[in-house]
Amino acid sequence: MKLLEAVSLSKTYGKERSWFTTQAGAMQAVHNVSLSLEQGETLGLVGESGSGKSTLGRLLLGLDKPTSGKVLYRGQDITDLNLKQMRSVRHRMQMIFQNSLSAFNPLFTVEQIIGEPLRNYRVGTAEARREKVLESLERVGLSSQYMRRHPHELSGGQQQRVGIARAIVLGPELLICDEPFSSLDATLRRQMLNLLLDLKSQLGLSYVFITHDLSLVDRFCDHVAVMHQGQIVEWQRSECILQNAVHPYTRSLLESVPIQDPRLRQVALF
Ligand SMILES: Nc1ncnc2c1ncn2[C@@H]1O[C@H](COP(=O)(O)OP(=O)(O)O)[C@@H](O)[C@H]1O
Ligand SMILES: [Mg+2]
Repeated sequence: MKLLEAVSLSKTYGKERSWFTTQAGAMQAVHNVSLSLEQGETLGLVGESGSGKSTLGRLLLGLDKPTSGKVLYRGQDITDLNLKQMRSVRHRMQMIFQNSLSAFNPLFTVEQIIGEPLRNYRVGTAEARREKVLESLERVGLSSQYMRRHPHELSGGQQQRVGIARAIVLGPELLICDEPFSSLDATLRRQMLNLLLDLKSQLGLSYVFITHDLSLVDRFCDHVAVMHQGQIVEWQRSECILQNAVHPYTRSLLESVPIQDPRLRQVALF
């Protein structure tokens, strides 16, 4: 069954304030994008900065309303839900941001940060919430001693782990990861990707994984969508993208990927 589906999604910024923003000043961040994600799959959304990836991620989650088109979650149209209706869907879809620190309340402890969604959704007693926070913390590889720390007392990798713990605490089905590890070094990035793979098999998660780095997708993703100027210009199974890339933009992205085997590079680029 399709978990998530986007049908002809478009998002234009600047249009609504038309009495002082001319049509020519409108910015089409996402243009006629259709895609789908099966349950249990990981979709890689790849493109350079400004190509519309984050806007598309927000549209898929309902954090932003599209100018046209619709989003279906398990077949249900969630595009025009009101806040109350959206609440019943939103706990099943969560986002992980590139910079978790800026999304955290700096005055909160790790326990309060991870526990916030549980409080918002009035889940269980204080004791039950504490148990859930601890469980999430352990799932992301941090011990209970981190519960009382504040965000600025954590390393970049630990902050991202707390961001993931917060995203899984309500037991979601889908995580939209917006360049979650781009500010981490290569070794940490590998560890964090492995963590996401482990969580996927333990919790039965599906991912939309947004990145500007095409080299991350082949091991991690099932399908890859390449975005360019607000549009999806390529859609492939990830193991095929090296050999079968059709669009010139994908080929130019591939040129910046270090490929170990020079014969593969020949196939990929020519
Ligand atoms: N809230 C906004 N208001 C106006 N323009 C925006 C807004 N958010 C994004 N944009 C513009 O939309 C385009 C796509 O941005 P974004 O989705 O952030 O791309 P990416 O995540 O691929 O870097 C960019 O040109 C950006 O300046
Ligand atoms: Mg972005």
